Amino acid sequence: VTVVTSVGDFRELARRRVPRAIFDYADRGSYEEITIRRNRADLDALTLRQRVMVDASKQTLATTLAGQPSALPLMIAPTGLTGLFRGNGEIYGARAAAAAGIPFCLGTLSILSIEQVRESTEVPFWFQLYLMRDRGFNANLIARAKEAKCPVLVLTLDLQVMGVRRRDAKNGLSVPPRLTLRNALDIATKPGWALGVLTAKSRAFGNLKPLAGSADLKSLSAWVANQFDPSITWKDVAWVRERWPGKLVLKGVLDADDARLAVDQGADAVVVSNHGGRQLDGACSSIAALPEVVRAVQGRCEVLLDGGVMSGQDVLKALALGARGCLIGKAYLYALAAQGQAGVAKAIEIIGNELKVSLALTGAIDVQNVSPDILR
Ligand code: GLV
Repeated sequence: VTVVTSVGDFRELARRRVPRAIFDYADRGSYEEITIRRNRADLDALTLRQRVMVDASKQTLATTLAGQPSALPLMIAPTGLTGLFRGNGEIYGARAAAAAGIPFCLGTLSILSIEQVRESTEVPFWFQLYLMRDRGFNANLIARAKEAKCPVLVLTLDLQVMGVRRRDAKNGLSVPPRLTLRNALDIATKPGWALGVLTAKSRAFGNLKPLAGSADLKSLSAWVANQFDPSITWKDVAWVRERWPGKLVLKGVLDADDARLAVDQGADAVVVSNHGGRQLDGACSSIAALPEVVRAVQGRCEVLLDGGVMSGQDVLKALALGARGCLIGKAYLYALAAQGQAGVAKAIEIIGNELKVSLALTGAIDVQNVSPDILR
């Protein structure tokens, strides 16, 4: 790949630059990978209507997401292990997003801590929360997000137990990464990656240092099973809502009934998501669930979407079906792994330009007001 023209190009570059276990963590889904394929297939199956002779000089691409200004209906999704795709990767992601004027969301399972990212970036970022067994620790994470001036908290609802990503087990994925006989050759052929990760500020879960055992977990899912609270319910969402004065986004809603419950909890936005096809295999695609969620919330909160979004055309399809914006997880990690901050900047630019052109060719003008009529 000499000239990068798509997210797919970044994926190919990432595949060559990072160890297999890291690449697969982003690239693959749970179990038989039915849902991760559906995310893509259902987006591809939507057909845009080509409309001509509509003034494309008057486009509006800027919007707000959970009340935060954004230059595009697009933001960076919270992703785990980001700093293993590229050393200090979370800082690069946050800086690229800030430069492009779109929100960046740091994940609980990031490699750099909230504080490490905050001290290296100027623009406040969003924070994504997983609820751990230790309530004091959860309260502490929320307090740290407040302290870092995060304007938005994204509570993930769909991972109180972890779906098995079979590749991760087969690849022996661990955090921090370990040199084993099996992966030695792989790592030896990725010196650029290794140098960056070895000299980075952190190689383990930066936010979770106080939790015992985080340094020598055997596999990610075993560790999650130990630390995450499988008993959480909507009561715990209320517990978070009481403690968080800022905007609250509930992520992992894939059903109209849950969407209504999320609104009842005071969500400012929901993210229609199946966790990128990494959790319930056999679930519907997020784009297929989007219309019923939009109908269910009746404008009482914003609806965002993630799950297989790789292009501006994908974003446009989601807007047509009622989403206010999309989150990119995989696309972001591919670009970050491939080319660091410049890669993420370029990926945002590519998706933004695709959106601009596709808006024009469907005769749509304002991303805040895309009609379902642009779909056949
Ligand atoms: C964590 O959120 C994961 O999907 O691995």
